[in-house]
Amino acid sequence: MPRRVSILGSTGSIGNSALEVIRRYPDKLAVHTLSTHSDIAQLTQQVEEFSPAHVAIMDAEAAKEFTQQHPACTVHVGIEGLCALAQLDTDIVLCGVVGAVGLRPILTALEHGNQVALANKEPMVMAGELIMSTARKHDVQVLPVDSEHNAIFQCLNGHDASGVYKIHLTASGGPFYKQPRETLANVAPEQAANHPTWNMGEKISIDSATLMNKGLEIIEAMWLFDVPLEKIQVVIHPQSIIHSLVEFTDGSILAHLGVTDMTLPIQYALTWPERVDEPMARLDLTTMKDITFDAPDFAQFPCLSLALEAAHKGGTAGAALNAANEIAVEAYRNHEIPFLAIPEIVQTVLNDAAIVKATSLAVILQADTEARAAAKHAIATLNMS
Ligand SMILES: NC(=O)c1ccc[n+]([C@@H]2O[C@H](COP(=O)([O-])OP(=O)(O)OC[C@H]3O[C@@H](n4cnc5c(N)ncnc54)[C@H](OP(=O)(O)O)[C@@H]3O)[C@@H](O)[C@H]2O)c1
Repeated sequence: MPRRVSILGSTGSIGNSALEVIRRYPDKLAVHTLSTHSDIAQLTQQVEEFSPAHVAIMDAEAAKEFTQQHPACTVHVGIEGLCALAQLDTDIVLCGVVGAVGLRPILTALEHGNQVALANKEPMVMAGELIMSTARKHDVQVLPVDSEHNAIFQCLNGHDASGVYKIHLTASGGPFYKQPRETLANVAPEQAANHPTWNMGEKISIDSATLMNKGLEIIEAMWLFDVPLEKIQVVIHPQSIIHSLVEFTDGSILAHLGVTDMTLPIQYALTWPERVDEPMARLDLTTMKDITFDAPDFAQFPCLSLALEAAHKGGTAGAALNAANEIAVEAYRNHEIPFLAIPEIVQTVLNDAAIVKATSLAVILQADTEARAAAKHAIATLNMS
C-alpha cells in the first residue's frame, strides 16, 4: 500500500513540491489530507486531483465558501482544524506551513503516534526540546525536510553522534552576499525575496536575505541532532550544491551533494528509510566547475549573531527570537520598515524579553505572544522617531 501523506500547507512552495513527489511515485505515496491558509482556488484543484476525504482551511470565511462548493469533503477550520488533520490515523504528516502556527499541529501529530516530516522550522526554534521529547515519548521520528538538515541526517546515518566533531551548515549567502551593508538600506521586499539558488516561499526567502534563516537552522540542528551549539558552524557555499557536511572526530568529513530542488529532500523524508530508484533529477558532476566555501560575515548579517545569542540564552529565547523575526519580516513585506530594521527590531525584543525555562507549551506560547507585542511596539516606536 502507498504511504499516506497528510500535507499541512499543501498550497505553498513545500506543499507543491511534495505533491510533485507524490505524483511521481504513486506506488509508494498517496495524498491523505491537504490544507491551506486561504487559497481555496488552488486547494480546489488539488482536491479534484487527489480526492482527500479531509482538508483544513485556516481562514474561516474561505472555509465557509469551500464547504459550500465541496459538500463531500470534510472541512476542518482554523488552528483546531490543522490539529484535527494532524491527529487522523496516517503514515506521515508533512508540516509545510510557515511560521509558529505549525507548533501545535506538530505536537498533536507526534502525540498521536504519527511520524512528522518537518519543513516548518520555526516551531523547532521555539520549542525544539518539547518537540523532540514528545517524539521520543511516543516513539516516533521527526524526519528533516529542510535541505541542510536532511543532508546532515543522511551523513549521520549509522554514525554515533558522539563521534561528531562539527556540523558544517551550508548557506548560499542569499541575494546580498558580499554586497556592502550600507547599500541595503532601500532594498525592496521583491529584491530580498529573489533568492539566487532556491525557489521558495516569500518569508523564508527574506529570512535567507538577512541570514536569519541560517540562524533558525542552527537552532533547528541543535535539537534535531542533539548536538551543542559549539559544534555547529555556518559556511557560505554560494553554489548550493553541497547541502551540508558532517566532520567526525577523526578528521573525516562527509558531505551531501544534490540538485538544488526541494523535491529531493522531501522525497527522502517521505520514503525513508527506502531510497527511490529513479529520482526527479540527477546531479551532473561534470557541470560543477566551482565549489567554494567562505566564512559568514557577522557584521553584514547581524541576524546570524542574534540567533546565536538566542541559542546561548536558551529557554524561551528561541520563541522570542522567532516571534520578533516573524513580525519584523511581515512589517518589511508590508513596506512598514526598511530591510535593515529587521535585525534592530529582533535585537530590541531579545534585549527586553524575560527569558525563562521553556517548561511547557503554555510557557512557550506566552513568550511568543509577548515577543509579538514587543516587536509591534518596537516597530511603532521606530516609525514615530
Ligand atoms: N520553500 C522551501 O523551499 C523551504 C525549504 C526549507 C524549509 N522551508 C520551510 O517550510 C515552511 C514552508 O515554507 P514555504 O516556502 O513552502 O512557504 P509558503 O510557500 O509561504 O507556503 C506556506 C503554506 O502554509 C499555508 N499557511 C500560511 N500561513 C498559514 C497559517 N497562519 N495557518 C495555516 N496555514 C498557513 C499557506 O497557505 P496559503 O497558500 O493560503 O497562503 C501555504 O499552504 C517554512 O517554515 C519554511 O521555513 C521551506
